[in-house]
Amino acid sequence: MTDSAPVLFNPLEAGYLEDPYETFAELRREDPVHQSPTGSWILFDYDDVFTILRDPAMSVDDRNAEIVNEERRAAFKAAFEDDERERRSILGLDPPDHNRLRRLISKAFSARTVEGFRPRVQELVDAALERIAEGGDVIEELAFPLPFDVISEMLGMPAADKDMIRDWSGAIVKTIDPIITPEEVAAAAVANREMSAHLAEVVAWKRDNLGDDLLSAMIQAEEDGDQMSAAELRDQVSVLFIAGHETTVNLIGGGVRALVERPDQRALLTGPDADAAMIEELLRFVSPVQFSRRITLEDTEIKGRVIPKGSFVLAGLASANHDEKRWGPDADELDLNRADTGQHMAFGSGIHYCLGASLAKLEGQIAIGSFARRFPNATITDYEWNGRINLRGLDRLAVEI
Ligand code: HEM
Repeated sequence: MTDSAPVLFNPLEAGYLEDPYETFAELRREDPVHQSPTGSWILFDYDDVFTILRDPAMSVDDRNAEIVNEERRAAFKAAFEDDERERRSILGLDPPDHNRLRRLISKAFSARTVEGFRPRVQELVDAALERIAEGGDVIEELAFPLPFDVISEMLGMPAADKDMIRDWSGAIVKTIDPIITPEEVAAAAVANREMSAHLAEVVAWKRDNLGDDLLSAMIQAEEDGDQMSAAELRDQVSVLFIAGHETTVNLIGGGVRALVERPDQRALLTGPDADAAMIEELLRFVSPVQFSRRITLEDTEIKGRVIPKGSFVLAGLASANHDEKRWGPDADELDLNRADTGQHMAFGSGIHYCLGASLAKLEGQIAIGSFARRFPNATITDYEWNGRINLRGLDRLAVEI
């Protein structure tokens, strides 16, 4: 650290939401293993993020936290009451429970299931591009509905539930932001309760009406006589839903914006191979999930600083993806010819590596590649950020084509 005032990580600072990368660069230079005033830690360097995500001494289970922000904990406890104890998605479970559920879900959510959706994704994208040609907004017509419709159809969910699930999910994802108001916690708890009750009914209905869909496959998935219980199924459906669209919307919105702003890069998109390379670089550049959370199970030394056992640690995925020590001096630039972009941290790393990565890439490639070819002269006329620190992205993206 320098002798001057210490650098603070303050996402509420003016300008942060529009561009967090300046703050990240400063922290990488001055204080890459950073302790926030609330006691939690944030890692900004690529090598530390990579290491911590693969470290078996790191937990994702909140019950292992000992050093906590009491205000936040009290707000969550009051709002969620006993709900949390019953709610367990694979994102919040450590081995061996995590391995068991991950294996069962992976059986149902195979590469073949994902690839089978390619024609449907193209069909949905083509219809969305038609609406954009008629003046529609890129987020409203393409980036949001595409991943939402795909995961709904894949799971075999009733189309009529769409608006309800969209509202619940929007309220619930606020809980993964480092900063949240008591009102938002209360709204998230209500949404969580209502969505869980609803999904429990959907799972029960599906059990009697099995079909050719992901939820039916999850109900039937079995290994050595082991199957998911009704509550486990409900919680995994919930996480697939939320993770399935609240993230990909940011990739598509941010990806379209990045390419529209760089016609030189757009010109490199000559076909499917170029689209596959494009999506890796856009994942790095956009970083639709900016942070991943862990809890130390023992005292952990990183770059000479000791993070005590029971601390929350945020792995700065987006900062790692822009770390000049890993990517070179032009790390903040979009470069579709960049080598090694597949090594980005956008999907995390280690045992919780994104289960939906191939689906997200399929959707992103088709949506962004098709947009770029259909509207080669598009320009941006207006946009608005969604105000989220972690699942950072656009709420609105207006273009002239
Ligand atoms: C661009 C889109 C996406 C991004 C950037 C993304 C990012 C991530 C990240 C960073 C993690 C790891 C979290 C951690 O280590 O704490 C993760 C996990 C996960 N993602 Fe994604 N995701 C995306 C799309 C999807 C989709 C489309 C689905 C499913 C349909 C999905 C399902 C999951 C699940 C179930 C996990 C938990 C895996 C585990 O805990 O073992 N994600 N995702």
